[in-house]
Amino acid sequence: TLPRVYVTRQIPPEGLKILQDSGQVQFELWDSDDVPVPRTELLQKVKGVDGLLCVLTEKIDAELLDAAGSNLKVISTMSVGFDHLSLEELKKRGIRVGYTPEVLTDAVAELTVALLLATSRRLIEATHEAKTGGWGTWRTLWLCGYELANSTVGILGLGRIGVAIAERLAPFKVKKFIYTDVAPRPELAKAINAEYVTLDELAKQSDFLSICCALTPETKEICNKNLFSKMKNTSIFINTSRGGVVNQEDLYEALSTGQIAGAGLDVTVPEPLPTSHPLFTLKNCVILPHIASASYSTRNAMSALAANNLLLGLRSQPMIKELKL
Ligand code: GLV
Ligand code: GLV
Repeated sequence: TLPRVYVTRQIPPEGLKILQDSGQVQFELWDSDDVPVPRTELLQKVKGVDGLLCVLTEKIDAELLDAAGSNLKVISTMSVGFDHLSLEELKKRGIRVGYTPEVLTDAVAELTVALLLATSRRLIEATHEAKTGGWGTWRTLWLCGYELANSTVGILGLGRIGVAIAERLAPFKVKKFIYTDVAPRPELAKAINAEYVTLDELAKQSDFLSICCALTPETKEICNKNLFSKMKNTSIFINTSRGGVVNQEDLYEALSTGQIAGAGLDVTVPEPLPTSHPLFTLKNCVILPHIASASYSTRNAMSALAANNLLLGLRSQPMIKELKL
């Protein structure tokens, strides 16, 4: 009999088609994209499966792996992030993990540039003013923001995405790129002529600070009071990685007191961020609902890669993109 697989979301068509056409798996699907599979249902559905294709809203932890049982050999997540996976538990049980880096780099970099400009040039405030009667006259300092030309852009966590963002920002006449990471990454840095600095220097020098690191125990709330207090009050903070790297209370404080000029967030804790959250009351905070990779082509490519990783894993072959545990 064919290996059994549970797919936790109605994923984009390219990935679904690969699973269907493979003739290699028997799969069951949570047939909605609008609501995640309830946890109790998920715990039932994974019983006895050989493989699981999930998205980032599913916590893959000891409880779930216990519920699945010992047939489970492969987890394939349709995401580049893997903070929803308990890697320790997966490693302990010898379960292999596929993920979807690279195919989303361009989409995430584009969105990051869009969010950065929307925040620094106050686009959301501006459209609101235009639409609601605030546009009294052309004014000399009204809705002024900050420009990329001659600026210093800092990148916290220099990987493929950080490089792709810098490549797109360079033509805006950025003066200097700086970055920090657990160690210098000279190969990547060379491509964008970025200088390695300490986290302190990154905070002090950056006119734009873009967060591009994975969420790990080391990066959890690395953007906190201490970091914001070193930033310039004209600086713009952008996060398209994971909400957990930011202490949101500290960010609220920094934004509301003018410690920093603005923030653009594609990710928050929790997601969705409740509409009553104080960050939503701030004009200098632009919040997006985690859409950085959301282009049709990229989401389809992610679903195809996740499907192929799953099928390869189930055949005990190397996956196209496999996490080293
Ligand atoms: C999106 O946040 C992803 O991890 O792919
Ligand atoms: C702006 O529209 C200008 O003409 O300076």
